[in-house]
Amino acid sequence: MSCLLSSLVFLLFFLSRSTPVLSISYNESSSNLCHADDSIALLEFRKSLIVDNATLPSQFCLNFDRVSDATRSWKEGSDCCEWDGVNCDHLTGYVVGLDLSCSTLKGGIESGSSLFQLHHLRSLNLAFNDFFPSPISSEFGRFSHLKYLNLSSSGFSGIVPLEIGQLSQLISLDLSFFEVNHYYYYYDYYTDPDNSDRYDYYYYKYMESYNPRLQMPNFKNIIQNLTELRELEVNHVDINSIMPHSLMNLTSLTSLQLRGCSLQGQFPNDILQLPHLQFLGVGNNSNLYTDSIKFNWSTPLETLSFDGCNFSGQLHDSLQQPQSLRIFIIENCHFSGVLPTWLWNITEAIFINGNYFTGELPSSVNKSRLSCLTTLDLWGNLLTGPLPAWLSDLPSLKSLDLSFNRFTGQLDEFITGNLRSNFSLTNLQLLMLRSNSLTGNVELNLFSKLKNLMALDLSNNGLSVTMTSSDTIDSSLWPSLKGLGLSSCGIRDFPDFLRFQEKLEMLDLSSNKIQGDSPKWLQDMGKYTLYYLNLSHNSLTGGFVYLHAWTKLQYIDLSSNMLRGPVPYPPLSTVLFFASRNLFTGEIPLPFRNLAKMQHLDLSHNRLSGEIPQWLGDFSNELSVLDLRSNNLHGFLPTTFPRRNSLRVLDLNGNQLEGPLPPAILRCKLLAVLDLGNNKLNGTFPLWLGALEELQVLVLRSNSFHGLLSSSTGNRWFTQLRILDLSNNYFIGMLPSKLLKNFEAMKTVGVRHDRMQYMMEEIAPSAVDMYGGSYYTDSITFTVKGFDLELEKILTILTAIDVSNNKFSGDIPESIGELVSMRWLNLSHNCFTGNIPPSLGNLNVLESLDLSSNQLVGQIPRDLVNLNYLESFNVSKNQLVGLIPQGMQFNSFGNDSYLGNPGLCGFPLSNKCEEDEAPESEALTEYDPTSDDMHEWEIILIGYGSGLICGLAAGYYMFIARSPLWLLRLIQAFRN
Ligand SMILES: *[C@@H]1O[C@H](CO)[C@@H](O)[C@H](O)[C@H]1NC(C)=O
Ligand SMILES: *[C@@H]1O[C@H](CO)[C@@H](O)[C@H](O)[C@H]1NC(C)=O
Ligand SMILES: *[C@@H]1O[C@H](CO)[C@@H](O)[C@H](O)[C@H]1NC(C)=O
Repeated sequence: MSCLLSSLVFLLFFLSRSTPVLSISYNESSSNLCHADDSIALLEFRKSLIVDNATLPSQFCLNFDRVSDATRSWKEGSDCCEWDGVNCDHLTGYVVGLDLSCSTLKGGIESGSSLFQLHHLRSLNLAFNDFFPSPISSEFGRFSHLKYLNLSSSGFSGIVPLEIGQLSQLISLDLSFFEVNHYYYYYDYYTDPDNSDRYDYYYYKYMESYNPRLQMPNFKNIIQNLTELRELEVNHVDINSIMPHSLMNLTSLTSLQLRGCSLQGQFPNDILQLPHLQFLGVGNNSNLYTDSIKFNWSTPLETLSFDGCNFSGQLHDSLQQPQSLRIFIIENCHFSGVLPTWLWNITEAIFINGNYFTGELPSSVNKSRLSCLTTLDLWGNLLTGPLPAWLSDLPSLKSLDLSFNRFTGQLDEFITGNLRSNFSLTNLQLLMLRSNSLTGNVELNLFSKLKNLMALDLSNNGLSVTMTSSDTIDSSLWPSLKGLGLSSCGIRDFPDFLRFQEKLEMLDLSSNKIQGDSPKWLQDMGKYTLYYLNLSHNSLTGGFVYLHAWTKLQYIDLSSNMLRGPVPYPPLSTVLFFASRNLFTGEIPLPFRNLAKMQHLDLSHNRLSGEIPQWLGDFSNELSVLDLRSNNLHGFLPTTFPRRNSLRVLDLNGNQLEGPLPPAILRCKLLAVLDLGNNKLNGTFPLWLGALEELQVLVLRSNSFHGLLSSSTGNRWFTQLRILDLSNNYFIGMLPSKLLKNFEAMKTVGVRHDRMQYMMEEIAPSAVDMYGGSYYTDSITFTVKGFDLELEKILTILTAIDVSNNKFSGDIPESIGELVSMRWLNLSHNCFTGNIPPSLGNLNVLESLDLSSNQLVGQIPRDLVNLNYLESFNVSKNQLVGLIPQGMQFNSFGNDSYLGNPGLCGFPLSNKCEEDEAPESEALTEYDPTSDDMHEWEIILIGYGSGLICGLAAGYYMFIARSPLWLLRLIQAFRN
């Protein structure tokens, strides 16, 4: 009962966000005809605007069923007090209230508009119309009786005039640009899931069309006189800075909303002292910071939202407990430390996801306090320990998200133990447990009590999930299920009940043990709804001929299976298609040509043959990644790239492509990774590629390129390059010093991501940029320490040059020592002569150096002893002489590093030098590579090697963002 009440209150509150809070009922009597002046003013005002049913704001209003053209009832000669949206004072007959929200009005409200002749207005609501790009006229300041003013989401732009500050009787001021607040979002989604799409459409369209935003640089001056204000809502108005104390005179405030106002500087703690404040929303101000937030729980605060602010520090326990706090949102801040006990006094929704909280959940809480809790979101923290029993005894809980933490214990015991006693999560809609350390054998049937389940994710724990079939359960289980994540759950068959899941939108069964053909009935699952399908890392052999029948599919991952035959072609809706590491044969199917929305196409590591189709260059303008690595394609590179294309990664390594590089590649202005290694390409070095300003990775290894590397480059060419692989070709001549000097990106050691950060990325992914940009989804083969190593990811930190197996000659340029971020350098199997340049000792982060099989002379420079990270070193087969440098990591290199240099002497070789010095003390310090910090790329390989991170495409963000929030969550989760 009390919960019902609470929800009701909330609903009312919610509606009050979007509607005139108070259309005050002034028109108690209709006996007075309205004043002729007012009537004329209204009609003129109406005439100055047009009604346009196509304006987007109505999309939002539709969701609340409030679209109406109020002005349709405005007829000359009738009593204007009777008109829709108009309210009159029953004593004086003056128009005192005007509510034209959601009336699909379009036009401008300039100074001199007849609107401003309605001098007696006390309430004015023009929200959700389209007055773009009209500024807010200073004449609004003339409504001296105004108590309620709502101009939100109506397209006003420019600077909010100071005159608004003269409205000293204002009780409510709303200039917000509407945004879907997370909590509302959940709320709405639950109450009416079908509306969520329109929400997003509305939101993004709005964002696009109404940038420039309103600005309020004079915020302090405007509000200073508005001491009666109870509601101040300026979401997405550009305010920039809030002076401490500037809000302190607004002691009547009950609702303050400053979301996304580009606030900077220190968060003024005194806001939390405002004595009547119930709703405080400060989220989405990433430059607003504090490391010592001070809550005051004696205020009537009910809703608090700080998500996406730069807040850190701990949430300290306090003697006082919050009494009225219902909704607490601090997601994606930087809070740390253990959870305060007062958290469990919050009664309705807790969002603390994406922070760095540690420690265990309390073993007991005051359950009656939590009997109305609907949302508990702890996603992406560092929480440990078992799931306490009270978690399964929250009767109102709709959403429980514990993903990406370090929770341990037997999940089956947690469930069955609680089933026996009191498993009362019957209202649960979202249960997300992905990526913890939970163990046990879990029968999905156990969850069958959760009739309202919409999303379940048990992925990446140590769970073994089974499903006992039974007719009754299969068909009636989870009628509302939209998302199911069972990655790494030891599953052997497609669970039978899936065939009844008509509304399924996301399915992740990756990294299981599913074998053989996919069953025919699979295509009935989510036929008109499925848009995410991940079956990667199983042992599937076929059966996906009907892939295109899922007409909503956008994200498809079939990689790392044993699928054979022709590549099944996906539906036109496909955005991301991963089918690498299968046994697909035949040509790239022609229907792929129609996939105009494709952003990421990965057919690498298959057995595709035939000619590489020319249409691959221009079938999708959105295409960002094209990966056909390791197939058997022949023919010439596509030359059809359109002038504006989005291509960032082109990987055709390991095919049979021939001919020279076509200059058409220069039209791919965004190209960052070009890997054409292991083909039959020929011609001279394509120096002109230097004109691609974003190019970071250029791999031409194992082709038939020949000739000189000309040194006459443009000045700003190749400045972003950090990986250059020209090995196994027929290049001759010098390694031009001038070319090397252009490699600006190799000259600075980038931000040294420390180990901790990568660990954090793995365990608290929300804390880092989820949308890529810092690393590429591309694999690249590199010969390190004698092994061909295929890196799953190319990181910004990896810098490497490999020109081995060519016919380069002359001295190794001294300037190579300027490329200080170099990690791998391979100049072996060439004809380099002269000394090893001592400048190589400047390459502080060098891990691998191979100079073998050249004609180098002289001594090995002692400077190389400074290379603390050097793990692999080879100078064999040269004509080097003298003492091998001793000490540090040089103690770890074996004979192989020096073979074929008869003139070398000293450890580890057996031939002693003539005047052998006593080994230095350094030489005694043992170098143990395993005890050293791991190198960053190794950490990354551990962290991400098995998973797959897709979509570095900028557009991918949009793709995600258009989905309902919980799906977005799932995708984020699935991508890790
Ligand atoms: C604030 O109110 C005072 C007194 O009513 C008035 O003199 C002053 O001009 C007002 N300030 C602003 C910014 O409107
Ligand atoms: C608050 O009000 C007091 C008294 O009216 C005034 O002296 C003070 O300047 C005001 N503070 C702000 C920040 O406007
Ligand atoms: C380069 O390859 C093309 C196609 O295989 C061939 O016709 C041409 O003769 C080759 N050019 C050279 C210089 O080898």
